Amino acid sequence: RIAYVNGQYLPHSDASVHIEDRGYQFADGVYEVVPVMSGKLVDEARHLDRLERSLSELQMDMPMSRRALQLVCDSVIERNYLTNGFVYMQVTRGVAPRDHKFPKGIKPAIVITAKQTKPQSTAVLEDGVAVKTVPDIRWRRRDIKSISLLPNCMAKQAAVEEGAFEAWMVEEDGTVTEGSSTNAWIVTKDGILVTRTADHDILNGITRMGLLEVAAEAGVQFEERPFTLEEAYEAREAFLTSSTNHVTPITRIDDRSVANGKPGSVTMKLREAYLDRIA
Ligand code: PDD
Repeated sequence: RIAYVNGQYLPHSDASVHIEDRGYQFADGVYEVVPVMSGKLVDEARHLDRLERSLSELQMDMPMSRRALQLVCDSVIERNYLTNGFVYMQVTRGVAPRDHKFPKGIKPAIVITAKQTKPQSTAVLEDGVAVKTVPDIRWRRRDIKSISLLPNCMAKQAAVEEGAFEAWMVEEDGTVTEGSSTNAWIVTKDGILVTRTADHDILNGITRMGLLEVAAEAGVQFEERPFTLEEAYEAREAFLTSSTNHVTPITRIDDRSVANGKPGSVTMKLREAYLDRIA
């Protein structure tokens, strides 16, 4: 495998960043995961928009022009013979003696890697996945795609320890925010598709944006609003979205089956339409 690190293409095993990089010391950096289908980046403009926004919220500039970033991503895809999978891009503030305030005049560190992934298993599509709920203990700027992911890792670990595929994080008011690395969706008893409003409480998923467009085109009625865990327990369908999981049906939330415990029809219809859109 080949990685891009600060201007160089290196064997993955030799690629490294400095021990005083602020990403390492303070999680002072942001990232993107961009899906790749048939060797092409999916929704790259939106991912670069979000990267630029995350950086600007932290008073950082794009590390290079968009065009240059796209060329590097394409080159990483090519050098890794990637067909289906994802590109990981990480930008950290760079190297400086440890001091909390933002240092002036340092160069950001940029890492771009690519990973091939296997297609979703038929078991996941036939049976759906389980999610476990955990309290959302994160900061209040979840719209910034920061590399500070310890609460997300803890949530996912707790889920996996109970045999679940993903964690759903729940606010003190009982509403579901999102998964540890996915957005959360339900189809209510009345057949309405619901996902949380994209404000500071969640990451505005690029898959989420694309799926809302697909839903509108398919004539599926949707609402962007917070929903409670109680509502999710009672829902007709549930699913999750992300760049790496696309649209994945959920058939169990904690110890309860979602409806009859089978992937929902709206979910599977949207999944197909979404995959067509990005193919
Ligand atoms: N995660 N919410 C969170 C907290 C996420 O980390 C992600 C993405 C999403 C979905 O966003 P998108 O549709 O743009 O992938 C929602 C990536 C895949 C990750 O951390 O690996």
